[in-house]
Amino acid sequence: MKKIVAIYPGSFDPVTNGHLDLIHRGCKLFDRLIVAIARNPDKGDSLFSLDDRMEMLKAMTADIENVTIDAFEGLLMTYCIEKNANAVLRGIRAVSDYEFELQMALMNRKIEPRVETVFMMPAEKYSYLSSRIVREIASFGGPLTGLVPEFVEERLHRRVAERRSATFAIPTK
Ligand code: PNS
Repeated sequence: MKKIVAIYPGSFDPVTNGHLDLIHRGCKLFDRLIVAIARNPDKGDSLFSLDDRMEMLKAMTADIENVTIDAFEGLLMTYCIEKNANAVLRGIRAVSDYEFELQMALMNRKIEPRVETVFMMPAEKYSYLSSRIVREIASFGGPLTGLVPEFVEERLHRRVAERRSATFAIPTK
């Protein structure tokens, strides 16, 4: 039988419990799931480096056999063909996600009709969760319990503190 390899692309800056929920669901459905971190030249300044995002994702998925963590640059469809992937997995939390996701899925289909986009819903308790909101809460020192794994929470506090000390560093000359 044909093996289904799916790519779950995203920024993962940082990975949240919502992403992990989707990864677990995806792993049950597909033979292999490649979580692909976008290098994001268009999003400008990421909070975490690609290496940090990769390390957090690897640590949080170490117990899942059919998952691989990777990074990609350029067009998602080019990467899918490179990896012999037949599907792209994307999460839809609320109706507000739909418009952008539809546009992206249809454009990707136009570029590469052999790859199907599959949408999955994370658990309702994560429907309001996003990396952006997690970064914002972390930047104000707010509570992150239940939003990200403890390991990621620690990294967030450390990174925010590093950024803050870099911003307020007084030049010696
Ligand atoms: O987590 P995000 O930021 O919603 O992920 C968006 C991502 C990385 C999946 C999307 O921007 C993407 O696929 N970028 C790669 C470039 C590309 O293929 N663009 C055309 C998409 S229609």
